[in-house]
Amino acid sequence: MLAVITGASRGIGESYARQLAARGYALHVAARDAERLARVAGEIRAAHGVAVEEIVLDLAQADGAERLYADVRRRRTEPVDLLVNNAGFGLYGEFADMPMPRIQEMLILHLVTVTKLIRLILPEMRERRKGAIINVASVAGLLPLPYLSLYAATKAFLVSLGAALDLEARKHGVVIQTCCPGRTATDFHATAGIKQYWAPGDQQTADEVVAESLAALDHGRSFVVTGWRNRVLNRIQQFVPRRVVLGAAERLMRP
Ligand SMILES: NC(=O)c1ccc[n+]([C@@H]2O[C@H](COP(=O)([O-])OP(=O)(O)OC[C@H]3O[C@@H](n4cnc5c(N)ncnc54)[C@H](OP(=O)(O)O)[C@@H]3O)[C@@H](O)[C@H]2O)c1
Repeated sequence: MLAVITGASRGIGESYARQLAARGYALHVAARDAERLARVAGEIRAAHGVAVEEIVLDLAQADGAERLYADVRRRRTEPVDLLVNNAGFGLYGEFADMPMPRIQEMLILHLVTVTKLIRLILPEMRERRKGAIINVASVAGLLPLPYLSLYAATKAFLVSLGAALDLEARKHGVVIQTCCPGRTATDFHATAGIKQYWAPGDQQTADEVVAESLAALDHGRSFVVTGWRNRVLNRIQQFVPRRVVLGAAERLMRP
């Protein structure tokens, strides 16, 4: 079994890599930080005895998906059983102040690269009538979020795309899961420029998020909000008037 995981040098992607290796998957792991990726890959090989290929790549480049796919094809001896589209980052603050290069990076990484990777790998899975794709979205994709506006909008795209594609792919034996974690203890907040904020819901570890995602995949579930408090909140906000939810979100997220 072979899994391709983007953003596996740390955080949630690293946990996917470790837990999938523990399940016996060979891995192709991609990220930009060669040193961290090599360390994670080395530890996984030593702990689980599986083959781990490191692919050092900036997936926020327009041709990132094609380059990753070409690299996997060049090295692999077996088909891809699982694709985990995990690489991502946050951008916090007023949209009008966000640096244009970071906006461009986010649009390519979250939208273009994920869409192209699915389009490149899904046909083989459909042909084999076997395989799964996990797109790591976020609870931020379930409602508009002031000051995390672009991030939340890109994750909403993944929620919509994943739900529709799962319905298309399932009859061909392929599951597409949209995983929506809430706050997770990783480097994400520091990278996003979020110093401190209080938010309702769970704060989980990356390992907890990934364990829930993979357990849900075992049951063929295409949508998972991780953390029971996050699930309760998601239910509640569906019944509360939208302007009330958005007003609360603006106050909570305000820098
Ligand atoms: N932490 C949370 O609270 C939270 C909540 C909901 C959803 N998520 C989502 O979970 C996913 C993983 O985030 P995380 O929390 O694990 O954050 P993280 O610890 O900052 O890890 C992000 C990963 O993405 C990779 N990455 C970032 N930009 C990249 C690029 N241009 N090309 C290739 N790889 C890139 C990073 O590797 P390099 O830096 O080595 O490239 C790293 O491996 C993201 O999609 C995020 O939106 C996180």
